[in-house]
Amino acid sequence: MKLPSQFYKPLAVGAPDPLREVPVRLERMIHFIPPHIEKIRSKVPDLISQVDVLLGNLEDAIPADAKDAARSGFIELARGNDFGDTGLWTRINCLNSPWALDDITQIVAEAGNKLDVIMLPKVEGPWDIHYLDQLLAQLEAAHGVTRPILIHAILETAQGVKNVEDIASASPRMHGISLGPADLAASRGMKTTRVGGGHPFYGVLSDRGADGDGFGRTLFQQDLWHYTVAKMVDACASNAIKAFYGPFGDFSDSPACEAQFRNAFLQGCVGAWSLHPSQVDIAKRVFSPDVEEVKFALRILEAMPDGTGAVMLDGKMQDDATWKQAKVIVDLARLVAAKDPDLAGAYGL
Ligand code: GLV
Ligand code: MG
Repeated sequence: MKLPSQFYKPLAVGAPDPLREVPVRLERMIHFIPPHIEKIRSKVPDLISQVDVLLGNLEDAIPADAKDAARSGFIELARGNDFGDTGLWTRINCLNSPWALDDITQIVAEAGNKLDVIMLPKVEGPWDIHYLDQLLAQLEAAHGVTRPILIHAILETAQGVKNVEDIASASPRMHGISLGPADLAASRGMKTTRVGGGHPFYGVLSDRGADGDGFGRTLFQQDLWHYTVAKMVDACASNAIKAFYGPFGDFSDSPACEAQFRNAFLQGCVGAWSLHPSQVDIAKRVFSPDVEEVKFALRILEAMPDGTGAVMLDGKMQDDATWKQAKVIVDLARLVAAKDPDLAGAYGL
């Protein structure tokens, strides 16, 4: 185990100092685009103003014969646009694939100073993070990258879930973790064919009625991802990094997408992936705090200026713990307000 005194030292001479804290940024949606498609690249200037994070996807969903074009398309769009306060990320191919090394070396060499975060798929344990951490430090030093590129892991194998706490604490480069429900379902042997969301057969049956006939009873659908999201949120929160819901594959079912994102938001996630333009608005709606909640949270902070003691508001007890909850909501609302003037007005901020 590495000594605490070594944890924040650069891993290569000339690499930038690791960050001590994940930068405070609004990241309600990580918007995926396939960078090998010219028409999509031409939309990037518009997308930059609409999304919080833009991600060039190089991994699954990019055909094997388009992997090189996706990588060079990503480098072209990274170099050719100004991203302002919108995050620029890429999802590279997994470490045991034939493409990962070229993804990492070419992108850091040619766009290292534009890139905020590398999303690493199929992370099995801290060893995957250590490998990428060391390689990034060497490449940053070699190519004069001045800000450390952060790592975001996808939690999408049974072994990764088992090791999630060690993954979250593996390096000061860790930005956060996303749930990858499609690969995770396959890895676990779950009997589904969906990308995220619920399943009609996964539920709890209401009790048998007095007649005991067993018919006409309701199956209350349960959230298949509750356990994993909770485990991921605890691993992230205890290491001061961010948790995200991943993809929701049924673009025709916006209410189900919204419900799934909202469960993740309430459990502690800060954002989700958007794979389709319609999901950008869903994520904005879900991962921006509710106006009435913000107003009530502001009243709590106002009623307890130093955050201690107990007061009653609308018949509800408030104390140090609800003050902290209120602060989480108000801090997020301030970040949203800085980007969204309409919500700033609605929140009264
Ligand atoms: C995402 O990559 C997933 O497998 O769900
Ligand atoms: Mg996956």
